Amino acid sequence: MRVYVILPAAGIGTRMAAGHSASAAPKQFLELAGTPVLIHTLRAFAAVPEVAAMYVAVRPAEMERLAAQVKEYGFSDRVRVVEGGDHRQESVANALAALECDADDIVLVHDAVRPLIDAATIQRTIHAVEKHDAAIVGLPAVDTIKQVERTADGAIITSTIPREYIVQAQTPQGFRYHLLKRAFAEAAADGFIGTDEASVVERAGAQVAVVQGSPANFKITQPGDLELAEFYLRR
Ligand code: C5P
Repeated sequence: MRVYVILPAAGIGTRMAAGHSASAAPKQFLELAGTPVLIHTLRAFAAVPEVAAMYVAVRPAEMERLAAQVKEYGFSDRVRVVEGGDHRQESVANALAALECDADDIVLVHDAVRPLIDAATIQRTIHAVEKHDAAIVGLPAVDTIKQVERTADGAIITSTIPREYIVQAQTPQGFRYHLLKRAFAEAAADGFIGTDEASVVERAGAQVAVVQGSPANFKITQPGDLELAEFYLRR
């Protein structure tokens, strides 16, 4: 059994552009403590011995820049650069198509823009996939969660969802290769597009386990998030 990692990194970062001076660069290429965000992410997975190879999906215009960075930071032997798509699921599907592995191998998908993932959480996810075939990192909700209806006057609460039933999905999200492949094929046939891999696998009828995440494993999304990531790094 081997472990492969897919890092979707083909987002264009429109939410980030609003307030950041380096708005020309998508967030995965912005610098965090002097090193590109994506390189922090690659380092985290490279530190896990079970990881055989990492596939990074980027926009065609970024492929050359990333290939140069992969070489510069010494990842050439374990990283492959593939072309991303118009939405996250397409980027992951492209990387999945490029993967050559056995049915029982494990595929971890991780947002390139969550650079503070740690080796222990990655390993816990791998062990959970070995046991359950599908597992994601999730953060139990601490706030009270409301369901709302959007109206012209703003949001109106329709119900309160007991928070013990809620986890916020993070990444990595890990699956046996055969399960992820089948779930993606079914989603493509039905025209279903999810915002994470678990939603694709859930609709294929599989159970997905949850591994405890952490607030530090957040997704760099908006202005201010890089400063927050630097704060966590300093700790
Ligand atoms: O924008 P979002 O929060 O969905 O981004 C999550 C991850 O998916 C990011 O690492 C982003 O680069 C990636 N992504 C992608 N292809 C897209 C859109 C997002 O690989 N078309």
